Amino acid sequence: MPFYKEIIINDTTSIYLWKIEEDFNTFFRQVQLKDTSLTRLECMKSESHQNGFLAVRMLLQYLQYSDFDLYYDDFGKPHLKDGKHISISHSQDFSAILISNTPMGIDLEILKDKIVTIAPRFMDASHLENLEQDNKIKKATVIWGIKESIFKIKNERGISFPKHIFEKPFHLNDKRGFAQLRFNNLIEEYCFQFEFVDNYALVCAFQNK
Ligand SMILES: CC(C)(COP(=O)(O)OP(=O)(O)OC[C@H]1O[C@@H](n2cnc3c(N)ncnc32)[C@H](O)[C@@H]1OP(=O)(O)O)[C@@H](O)C(=O)NCCC(=O)NCCS
Repeated sequence: MPFYKEIIINDTTSIYLWKIEEDFNTFFRQVQLKDTSLTRLECMKSESHQNGFLAVRMLLQYLQYSDFDLYYDDFGKPHLKDGKHISISHSQDFSAILISNTPMGIDLEILKDKIVTIAPRFMDASHLENLEQDNKIKKATVIWGIKESIFKIKNERGISFPKHIFEKPFHLNDKRGFAQLRFNNLIEEYCFQFEFVDNYALVCAFQNK
């Protein structure tokens, strides 16, 4: 399938999704890659990872960008040369990019039972109390996505999900909420938004100034 959908977050921010149904060769014929990206692609162990990487380039090309407009800093955070902010997430079935005028983070996470078991390691497990199992999975996955998204904005070593990022209580029906980063003697407020796409949670976050 080609381009899947655009989700408009606000006037200057959109998320773009690619549903991965192509094989490696189909993608490879259609994207133009820098040498550094070719090297990265060759080093990837699974075709699924390669396809996720190539689908991101398909999304860039869909938006009139290309792999040549994208570069990474020393921590692996992606940037666009035109100064717009980009955040990237990919999984088995989808690749997602978020483009914005302000720093934002995105995360796409598959819904899996195991997240409930490991929830106490990364979140306040009381936020899952009184939920049916399906909703526990959804909420814990969203909370993981919130923390990944905030991490992707801050891009700083030493941030721990359970020790430094705290989601405020929210309901799945809210589709949005607030979180705090308490790190290095600073407290920062973040907003998040989420939705479910097939069996994935798609989360984005941005600072609430
Ligand atoms: C880097 C990290 C955010 C990637 O997240 P992920 O869920 O594994 O993978 P995703 O597909 O969602 O995101 C991958 C993309 O994130 C982006 N990314 C990588 N490092 C990044 C960073 N430091 N800052 C912002 N974005 C980053 C890249 O664009 C990457 O894709 P690409 O290299 O193909 O372009 C994640 O591996 C990580 O390090 N998380 C924080 C560590 C942590 O605290 N974990 C759990 C503690 S309980």
